[in-house]
Amino acid sequence: MDSFSTLIRTASQELHAEANTSTFMSDLLGGGLGVEAYARYTEQLWFVYDALESVAERLAADPVAGPFIRPELMRLAALERDLAHLRGADWRSTLSALPATRVYADRIAQCARVWPAGYIAHHYTRYLGDLSGGQIVRDRAEKAWGFAKKGDGVRFYVFEQIANPAAFKREYRDLLDAVRADDLERQRIVAECKRAFTLNTAVFRALSEEFPLSA
Ligand code: HEM
Repeated sequence: MDSFSTLIRTASQELHAEANTSTFMSDLLGGGLGVEAYARYTEQLWFVYDALESVAERLAADPVAGPFIRPELMRLAALERDLAHLRGADWRSTLSALPATRVYADRIAQCARVWPAGYIAHHYTRYLGDLSGGQIVRDRAEKAWGFAKKGDGVRFYVFEQIANPAAFKREYRDLLDAVRADDLERQRIVAECKRAFTLNTAVFRALSEEFPLSA
C-alpha cells in the first residue's frame, strides 16, 4: 500500500496542474502582468499565512498537528517585509482580502479550531508547495520586477533557516507518514487537501478577474 505522503501527493496532482496552469499564474509567470498584480497576490498570501500561523502556538501542543509546527517554515514576517517593500510602510492601511481569500482563510481557521488533522492538509498544501514551485515563482518575480535576488519583495519564497529543502521535504513526508489516523481519516485529510487546492484556484480566478491580461 502507498504511504500517506504518496497518497496525498498523487491525489492532489491533477488539482496541482490546474492551479499552476491557472490564467493568473500563467499571466504572472509569463511576464504579462505588472508588479501591482504581484503585490495584490502577495497581499492575499498574507491573509492565508496569518490564518495558518496565528494558531501555530496553540497547535504546537496538539498531538496530531503539533509535529508540523516548525519555526523555520513561518512566513508571516517575510510577507510583511515584502509588503512594506511593495506597498510602502503603511501597507497595512490598504490591506484587503478578496472574498475568495476570506473563504480560504476562514476554512483554515475552522480546521485549526475543530479538526487539527484537517489543518495538516492546509499546512501541506502551502508549505510544501512554497518549498517547491515557489522557487520558480521567486526566480520569475526577481527577473520581471527587478527585486534583489532573495531580497525584499520575494522574501516570502526564501526559507533562510532551511539549508537543504530536498532533505526538509523528505523529513516532512516522514511526518505525514507518521500521522496517527486510520484509513477513513486519511481519506478525509486527502479530501481537505483537494479542497485547499480548490480554494487556491478560486483566489487565482478572482485575481485574474481583477488583473485581466489586455490582449
Ligand atoms: C506556477 C506555480 C507552480 C509551480 C511552477 C509548481 C511547481 C511544483 C513542482 C516542480 C513541484 C515538485 C517538487 C518535488 O517534486 O519535490 C511542486 C510540488 C508541490 N506543489 Fe507546486 N507549483 C506551483 C503552484 C502550486 C500551488 C498554487 C500549490 C498549492 C497552493 C502547490 C502545491 C504544491 C505541493 C503541496 C507540492 C508538494 C507535492 C509533494 O511532493 O507532496 N503548487 N510544485
